[in-house]
Amino acid sequence: MNELTADEIVDLCLKHTLYDWQQQGVTRPIAVASARGSEFFTVGGKRYLDFNSQLMGVNIGHADPRVAEAIAEQARTLPYISPFMATEVRARLGQKLAELMPGDLDKVFFTLGGAEANENAIRIAKAVTGRNKILARYRSYHGATYATISLTGDPRRWGNEPGMPGVVHVLDPYHGTERATDDAATALAYLEETVMLEGPATIAAFILEPVTGTNGILIPPDGYLQGVRELCDRHGILLIADEVMSGFGRTGEWFAVNHWGVVPDIMTMAKGLTSSAVPLGAVGLRPSVHRYFDEHVYWGGLTYNSHPLACAAALATINVYEEDGLIDRSRKLGEVMADHHQELSERHPSVGLVRNLGLFGILELVRSRETMEPMAPFNGSSDEMKAIGKYLDEHGLFTMVRWNQIMTNPPLCITEEQLAEGFEIIDGALGAADAAVA
Ligand SMILES: Cc1ncc(COP(=O)(O)O)c(C=O)c1O
Repeated sequence: MNELTADEIVDLCLKHTLYDWQQQGVTRPIAVASARGSEFFTVGGKRYLDFNSQLMGVNIGHADPRVAEAIAEQARTLPYISPFMATEVRARLGQKLAELMPGDLDKVFFTLGGAEANENAIRIAKAVTGRNKILARYRSYHGATYATISLTGDPRRWGNEPGMPGVVHVLDPYHGTERATDDAATALAYLEETVMLEGPATIAAFILEPVTGTNGILIPPDGYLQGVRELCDRHGILLIADEVMSGFGRTGEWFAVNHWGVVPDIMTMAKGLTSSAVPLGAVGLRPSVHRYFDEHVYWGGLTYNSHPLACAAALATINVYEEDGLIDRSRKLGEVMADHHQELSERHPSVGLVRNLGLFGILELVRSRETMEPMAPFNGSSDEMKAIGKYLDEHGLFTMVRWNQIMTNPPLCITEEQLAEGFEIIDGALGAADAAVA
């Protein structure tokens, strides 16, 4: 299929295109030729099992023919039209999302991805409330535009400072492996204190990932999200749920907030919306928010708002979730994943913590179960973690190994056999970490 060799592809990519989040001189990407379901194949023919759905976005699996056909059909009929027009795919997708979104959220603004969705979400929040500040959490990622990298709490923000003024970061209930996670009441008390000290009437919104993604699959203690909702209501602060990664079945519900029955004022989506096949994001709004724009101009716009190809891809993708029962499947396979996690933690002293909700999962490795010292420091790596990454790569398991963490976030269509295969490879890789346990 490819006319160029793997080396030629990689060399040209590195010569003429810029790679994300890394020093260009040290990266050597994999040349990928094709993908299907939970697997992808290199130009050299090597198979990888995808245990991270790429960037936790290929939820229905790679290259679903139903989505491919919908995109092709839309490309033949109307690939693009100005966002000032109305199209059937836009009408149908808006209606479908209004049906799927929690509570009374019933209107969306379409963007190209997650960052643009969050960017517009905070602008909407500022316009509607007339307030300026945005609260966000430290252990978070909200995108890489100027505003959203400022919202982002993790170290990817550091190289982009000073950022947008008016962002206030708050601590999470989770504090790393060496300290206990706060219960909901403690975490809410700190949050309330920050709100009081900042001045509640200056805060437009609190943006959070209901289940945090790249910062460690952080599942909030029960009561936390409900408490955040109540606190926001009390102070007229809008709650923005960033469901870019946690949405569309990843946690075993359409949206992670559903686990706690919390309805955000604004909800952002991307990734799983099209299973990443085509770039598309969306900002979902409650009537109490979007009614403001019945009387006021929305000072925002995008050439590719409601792009017909992307809308067609999203409609077909949502159809696959429903036709294949993927949301239920994520919930059920989440139980199987929890068993695998448990087994690994019984077999390997280096496994300090395991967590998952649906197929959103993680292992945190430690040097000692007594001290819970992480196998690699915050924002760092270690020889052991590097050895694990190398082993997984050599054995054809693609996933994210970050700091002391191994992510387990496969496509929702993964089979039980493939799930077992992936965990068997991780089992083999953990030897390198066990040897370092005190
Ligand atoms: C929770 C969350 N929000 C926002 C984004 C940014 O999305 P995008 O890369 O599509 O701009 C990401 C991407 O990983 C994410 O995980």
